[in-house]
Amino acid sequence: MPEQPAFRPHHIAIVMDGNGRWAKKRMLPRVAGHKQGVTSLRRMVEAVGARGVRVLSVFAFSSENWNRPDEEVSGLMQLLATALAKEVPSLSRAGVRIHFIGERSGLSDKLRAGLEQAETQTQQNDKLILNVCFNYGGRWDIAQAARRAAEAGEALTEAVLDRYMALAHVPDPDLLIRTGGEKRISNFLIWQAAYAELYFSNRLWPDFDEAALDEALADFAGRERRFGLTSEQVTRPNPSAQGKSEGREHA
Ligand code: IPE
Ligand code: IPE
Ligand code: MG
Repeated sequence: MPEQPAFRPHHIAIVMDGNGRWAKKRMLPRVAGHKQGVTSLRRMVEAVGARGVRVLSVFAFSSENWNRPDEEVSGLMQLLATALAKEVPSLSRAGVRIHFIGERSGLSDKLRAGLEQAETQTQQNDKLILNVCFNYGGRWDIAQAARRAAEAGEALTEAVLDRYMALAHVPDPDLLIRTGGEKRISNFLIWQAAYAELYFSNRLWPDFDEAALDEALADFAGRERRFGLTSEQVTRPNPSAQGKSEGREHA
């Protein structure tokens, strides 16, 4: 019998944590760690695309990260501007469609224009969707979805809120990876990750390479996703129940 392809996630979400500690270990300023983090992200985009993953959502700057020292916050804003100029053309050539997810009103006009330009420039691409969550918080997301749904006069049901959430253009993440050793969500996709498989790596984000990704994928392939059902229901599905989990399972 031919070997089954490994059970692979359609959508991976990553909390890219550990840049500061990576820099500290080398007696470098924290911003140097973030810079190395951008290199790591560039490598990871290639790596997930090569492994057939269709959506990658990364946490780049949280609603709470504004409370860091001014120097680090401005360094991160600068780094985003540099990355837009340096990385977007090659990402676009590689077929990556970029979306920036998060509250834009706190960002400079120039940065906002850069985000819009990157989205427009890559909107025809369809190899991989890259959602860069910047000035994002899961609570912000739920609140903005509820506000917009209410403004449109819609009932606040789960299905309606789902349509207004910031990641409504993609299915929910199947696998959520956090690097850097902490075992928490830190206000990332708290709505969308309801049934994501969680994977925690002790590697710092700049050190998270292809081999580390493959370890995470192998771990994921061994999980049994039950979505509230029993193990027997999942392994021997009742034909009448088929389609209920549509969009959530991806071979
Ligand atoms: C994650 O790395 C990146 C951002 C939060 C912007 P950290 O900067 O949190 O790195 P550590 O956790 O201090 O090592
Ligand atoms: C989460 O990391 C945010 C990003 C990776 C952008 P943090 O370093 O901010 O999370 P906490 O503070 O350790 O929970
Ligand atoms: Mg951190």
